[in-house]
Amino acid sequence: MFPLLYLCSFLSLFLLPPANLAAVSNDRKYLKLPLLRKSPFPSPTQALALDTRRLHFLSLRRKPVPFVKSPVVSGASSGSGQYFVDLRIGQPPQSLLLIADTGSDLVWVKCSACRNCSHHSPATVFFPRHSSTFSPAHCYDPVCRLVPKPGRAPRCNHTRIHSTCPYEYGYADGSLTSGLFARETTSLKTSSGKEAKLKSVAFGCGFRISGQSVSGTSFNGANGVMGLGRGPISFASQLGRRFGNKFSYCLMDYTLSPPPTSYLIIGDGGDAVSKLFFTPLLTNPLSPTFYYVKLKSVFVNGAKLRIDPSIWEIDDSGNGGTVMDSGTTLAFLADPAYRLVIAAVKQRIKLPNADELTPGFDLCVNVSGVTKPEKILPRLKFEFSGGAVFVPPPRNYFIETEEQIQCLAIQSVDPKVGFSVIGNLMQQGFLFEFDRDRSRLGFSRRGCALP
Ligand SMILES: *[C@@H]1O[C@H](CO)[C@@H](O)[C@H](O)[C@H]1NC(C)=O
Ligand SMILES: *[C@@H]1O[C@H](CO)[C@@H](O)[C@H](O)[C@H]1NC(C)=O
Ligand SMILES: *[C@@H]1O[C@H](CO)[C@@H](O)[C@H](O)[C@H]1NC(C)=O
Repeated sequence: MFPLLYLCSFLSLFLLPPANLAAVSNDRKYLKLPLLRKSPFPSPTQALALDTRRLHFLSLRRKPVPFVKSPVVSGASSGSGQYFVDLRIGQPPQSLLLIADTGSDLVWVKCSACRNCSHHSPATVFFPRHSSTFSPAHCYDPVCRLVPKPGRAPRCNHTRIHSTCPYEYGYADGSLTSGLFARETTSLKTSSGKEAKLKSVAFGCGFRISGQSVSGTSFNGANGVMGLGRGPISFASQLGRRFGNKFSYCLMDYTLSPPPTSYLIIGDGGDAVSKLFFTPLLTNPLSPTFYYVKLKSVFVNGAKLRIDPSIWEIDDSGNGGTVMDSGTTLAFLADPAYRLVIAAVKQRIKLPNADELTPGFDLCVNVSGVTKPEKILPRLKFEFSGGAVFVPPPRNYFIETEEQIQCLAIQSVDPKVGFSVIGNLMQQGFLFEFDRDRSRLGFSRRGCALP
């Protein structure tokens, strides 16, 4: 998701009809996917098992590095195109599902001001009054300066003891969350299996919530957002100091049912997994939240498209560039590049067009009667600076929008007002490691083996 502060014209964030996601997740023919990993490829699986044992052995000899991990699950079963993290917050802990979002900074949860909350259903909102550790930030607290204020916020009177820190955080589609900025204890599982209590995590206690991306169907099942962006108030930034300044995750294939669980790992938990490709993370002073990468070229079935490299640049007004965003479902490509990709895929696709295009998509094919569309759909390959090559499987960019119809899940964006996005669908099945100290993004197709 994109904070309003940095971008104003991104209205098409959640084009993917969530109802279809739910339908896909219940679609039985996809249940065979986990088996495919085992039976046709016995040797790589064995190799991976050996590899894992070797790495495990090596890691025993290394000084253990602390890290925390939280399960990440796809929200597809509740009709959301998002991935959720279970955060335990407060004392005693209240368990809430937050959208894991590398495209925004604020951590916030829906809050209820109820005094007697026993008639509220638990685990859908946070009850500050049921927590002994809830502590509203004072408006004079330095952390309060880091969060955007509502326009009509009173001036801070620092001699008054109970002067709260109101916040108002807007997303690009006009959605808003506002309430009180506060601190709480959160509980997370550490690598040793023990629960770590992290005190004083700053978060927004949201009393007012409005707009599509925080109350519409894409938000189904979520109780808040865990901003993992680069800004100082994000979860990654707040915890970074304590856990080595990196985090990693795997977003598992959302079509699998029941949805498999993978982990968001804060800290150095991913290095041992396997060889990663690395590409530098770029910064854009005008959009300090985002993790930018430099896309260099796109290939369709091995043929490099003739895309003017200047299309991928971040311009002087801060537009353009390519962002890794776990809070956006689809992928977006800068317009001239987008048209070339569509044309190249159309040219190479060996399947009939759908009778009608699904609204919002430019390329849909009819896979009726085809047993393994994966095998014949054109292959995309993305090359990033530093020589990192990203080869997602077709299911990361073709989605079933209705029975037997698959559409290219890429949208066009005008780089003069927006930027290209590698969304969560494109990222699924890969381990991504955001190494903030070394300012690099690592990724691997082999890092997502289930524990
Ligand atoms: C809270 O509400 C419940 C049910 O409405 C009631 O039984 C209980 O006595 C109330 N507790 C307090 C402390 O008011
Ligand atoms: C600040 O708060 C104190 C204590 O409540 C009060 O006496 C003072 O008038 C306030 N100052 C302003 C500028 O509102
Ligand atoms: C897909 O193809 C099948 C078989 O040719 C046809 O019966 C069906 O109507 C087509 N569906 C769409 C939506 O194009």
